Amino acid sequence: MQEKDASLYGFQPRFQHFATQAIHVGQEPEQWTSHAVVPPISLSTTFKQEAPGHHSGFEYSRSGNPTRNCLEKAVAALDGAKYSTNRYFRQVAAEFGLKISFVDCSKTKLLEAALTPETKLVWIETPTNPNLKMIDIEACAHTVHKHGDIILVVDNTFMSAYFQRPLALGADICMYSATKYMNGHSDVVMGLVSLNSESLHDRLRFLQNSLGAVPSPVDCYLCNRGLKTLQVRMEKHFENGMAVARFLESNPRVEKVIYPGLPSHPQHELAKRQCTGCPGMITFYIKGTLQHAETFLKNLKLFTLAESLGGYESLAELPAIMTHASVPKSDRDALGISDTLIRLSVGLEDKKDILEDLDQALKAAHPPNAGHN
Ligand SMILES: Cc1ncc(COP(=O)(O)O)c(C=O)c1O
Repeated sequence: MQEKDASLYGFQPRFQHFATQAIHVGQEPEQWTSHAVVPPISLSTTFKQEAPGHHSGFEYSRSGNPTRNCLEKAVAALDGAKYSTNRYFRQVAAEFGLKISFVDCSKTKLLEAALTPETKLVWIETPTNPNLKMIDIEACAHTVHKHGDIILVVDNTFMSAYFQRPLALGADICMYSATKYMNGHSDVVMGLVSLNSESLHDRLRFLQNSLGAVPSPVDCYLCNRGLKTLQVRMEKHFENGMAVARFLESNPRVEKVIYPGLPSHPQHELAKRQCTGCPGMITFYIKGTLQHAETFLKNLKLFTLAESLGGYESLAELPAIMTHASVPKSDRDALGISDTLIRLSVGLEDKKDILEDLDQALKAAHPPNAGHN
């Protein structure tokens, strides 16, 4: 069974003990006087001290909170990291007016050419949103670290900790929009960061405490709960995603499908080398024009037309008009984000129902009497 799973579609073997760690690390009942099996939502903003400076490990909820602690320990274990802390990084960076350049990091030479003596940090997203381009994390880490003390950050939102471990591939920081797969239930907006460097960890902790950018205990509780089913959810997203990708690829109403799990994906070999599987994110070009894309989206019954991704529910969206409308048209054109590009977040519903919904919506966009079967 183990071997069959490991070789599924030719991807890397799954990370060992993942589900056990997701369920148990940081969740020890002994840490609570009640021995609660499920971590309590610790709403208190402050914690009693036995004497000035003598505390239980918690002083004030901004600098440390018991519920947040459970989540941080679980995420660190799942990322194979020493530390996990919540995201404020991007927002902070943007505020300081830092010089930023955008590079196609799937071409390591372009990345190398863009590095300057002032480069402090390289941020990559793999696979990219919405074109699902894969970036070779190991190659980027090699290039970046060769040039000195530059921090490599990988946005691991699309793959989740279950399918990709950037830190093991040489990244310095692994970050998530936990709003997506990590929480998985579309009811929390949160960021996560995992890392191994003690000095970087101390610096981020200092900033977290100084800036006060901490998530609520309720959100931490929900995200921590979401992690307990990350493995089973991701396996099902993979199964449903692969079925949808294959269905779309063989559909005459579809121009092109982009899914790293398909052999037709330009970086399929890299995906198999770097990841243990693929999530439910699929991008495809419907044949025709904007009108066909809109008719397709309007006719979906099971998929909801909405932004975001990675929840248990299937979502569909039109990046050119929705999530990526703020990207200048010239950039959208260069990236291939056209009016017929549709992004799906395939959920956990029954495979047959998902495929039937896509089939009927495609037929509504391109009726059978218009030349398609
Ligand atoms: C890959 C990726 N990273 C980061 C974000 C930002 O996440 P959040 O909305 O949780 O701040 C998104 C949101 O869509 C995303 O898709």
